[in-house]
Amino acid sequence: MCGIVGILGRSDVAERLVNGLKRLEYRGYDSAGIAVVNGKSVDVRRAVGKLDNLTSALATDAPEGWVGIGHTRWATHGAATQTNAHPHKVGLVTLVHNGIIENHADLRSELETLGVHLSSETDTEVAAAWLNHLLGRSKTLDDAFQKLLDKLVGSYALAVVFEGYPELIFVARQGSPLAIGYGQPDADGSMEVFVGSDALALAPFTDQVSYLEDGDWAAIHSDRVEIFNRNGAKIARDVLTIAAQDFVVDKGPWPHYMRKEIEEQPDSLSRLLGTLVDSGAANLKPCLEGIDFAKADRIVLLACGTAHYACHLASYWIEDIARIPVEIDLASEYRYRNRPLTGREIVIAVSQSGETADTLSALTALADQVAARLAVVNVPTSSIARVSDAILNIQAGPEIGVASTKAFTGQLMALMALALKAGRDRGVLSEDRLGALVTELTSVPRIVGDTLRLAPEIDALARRLAPASDIYFLGRDVNYPLALEAALKMKEISYIHAEAYAAGELKHGPIALVEDGTPVIIFENPGELNEKTASNAAEVAARGADLVTIGPSKNCALRTTAVGPIATTFSYAVVAQLLAYFVAVAKGTDVDQPRNLAKSVTVE
Ligand code: G6P
Repeated sequence: MCGIVGILGRSDVAERLVNGLKRLEYRGYDSAGIAVVNGKSVDVRRAVGKLDNLTSALATDAPEGWVGIGHTRWATHGAATQTNAHPHKVGLVTLVHNGIIENHADLRSELETLGVHLSSETDTEVAAAWLNHLLGRSKTLDDAFQKLLDKLVGSYALAVVFEGYPELIFVARQGSPLAIGYGQPDADGSMEVFVGSDALALAPFTDQVSYLEDGDWAAIHSDRVEIFNRNGAKIARDVLTIAAQDFVVDKGPWPHYMRKEIEEQPDSLSRLLGTLVDSGAANLKPCLEGIDFAKADRIVLLACGTAHYACHLASYWIEDIARIPVEIDLASEYRYRNRPLTGREIVIAVSQSGETADTLSALTALADQVAARLAVVNVPTSSIARVSDAILNIQAGPEIGVASTKAFTGQLMALMALALKAGRDRGVLSEDRLGALVTELTSVPRIVGDTLRLAPEIDALARRLAPASDIYFLGRDVNYPLALEAALKMKEISYIHAEAYAAGELKHGPIALVEDGTPVIIFENPGELNEKTASNAAEVAARGADLVTIGPSKNCALRTTAVGPIATTFSYAVVAQLLAYFVAVAKGTDVDQPRNLAKSVTVE
């Protein structure tokens, strides 16, 4: 949450800072601001709300200067006001921050005893004030910055500029991601240097990127970048070349990123499929060769949000195909549970961004305690990918809409491939079944394409549902986690109260909520469970529900293509995405940047 950019440049930076922030707005959009060093002074501009408000304010009066930092905020401490917006300037120090400084209250009281009073409610201004205070008590700037970092408890990515130091940016990372990008060096070895919360922000400027590790801080000068680890030792971090395809970010012909990303799924899934299976031979391609599921006694799937529902759904597949117990948990719960471990678990962290704080912490804490830690991510250079023993890249391309869509189906496909590999490693999956499952998986991009063609019907259904105050989703088996994901999508972007229940739980409480006209959406189960689901549909209909059945049967309100159970799951996922999307559009909400949410939750 919150996005940071910084540029130590050779020409004016204000416009470029805003350009970088534009690519980070998915991390938060409560306010935005930039600070530009101009000679000996630092010019701070901030605006509440979306980045457009800052852009408009700068249109006629942009600050001049070649060095600057910028920030887009998701409010944690203090409301979304101009005073609480970053950058925060205290004395000689101007600072932006992503994360939470947990000991901010103690640090604030200490400052007050020292006679320093702050103007905002933020934890960030506390850090700026402390650094300013320490400057007067330290031999060098480096010294003061190191002392500040020693004082801070919590998670942070920081970028700082100083009055009187026109060619310097300090940055630090502890628990919140930060990348340094390097421009083309001149003949004298000097170059432009860029800072960003992720490589996406740096894409317009460079493809040469280093990632700071936890505890690192760096002093960026016009002729050198010096990186230090938490012990103060000077170190080098690898410079990686980031693939250009990672950086294509536009809406194409679509009105919203979310719609574009939904429509991209046949392509994103084909691309992923090409790396996972040999469709000609109906077999898996070699993947994760160093990981042997035969040696594992359990698989633990950890994630948050939509990625958690992908795990929940895939747990049915893995247990069925690989005959191994699967534990799923929200990373935010798992990390604080006193869970017994055998040391033979294979832990799989699933995360689109690869930066979700709880998932990262849960995975990091398991180092040396389990057999292997895998990451299923969309950003192979992310923090979660870097702490894992092996990664599976879902290759969905940048997902900008806050509500996850193409990443969800990519996660499902990757987890299905892991189920197949686990089944084969464990000797419980016959060649025939493997071949049949791979063949079905290969059909998924086409089936998803067919489902996308239902958009006009789903739009009509969405217009009917849009006035509802509550919507319930029911499903059995894999359709239960799918219903949970459908309800999450609906509430995230349409703000309609939506809940999902396992259809079998209906009579244990949820049915009490059904009144005349309450919308209840049921996903039909292909196969033997369908009769049970059909009975549940009849039960809610008998109580006056506005029943919407989705499935291939001819009596379904929304008919999907009759295909195998795996392809059906992907088809339903797309229906759920389009339904939430069209309801949100009908209600006129901000589809890509729904209120109070951020795409990447990098704080607890
Ligand atoms: C946020 C996003 C969700 C996402 C979740 C987990 O809540 O709004 O769309 O599913 O974080 O994110 P991750 O990057 O770990 O998949």
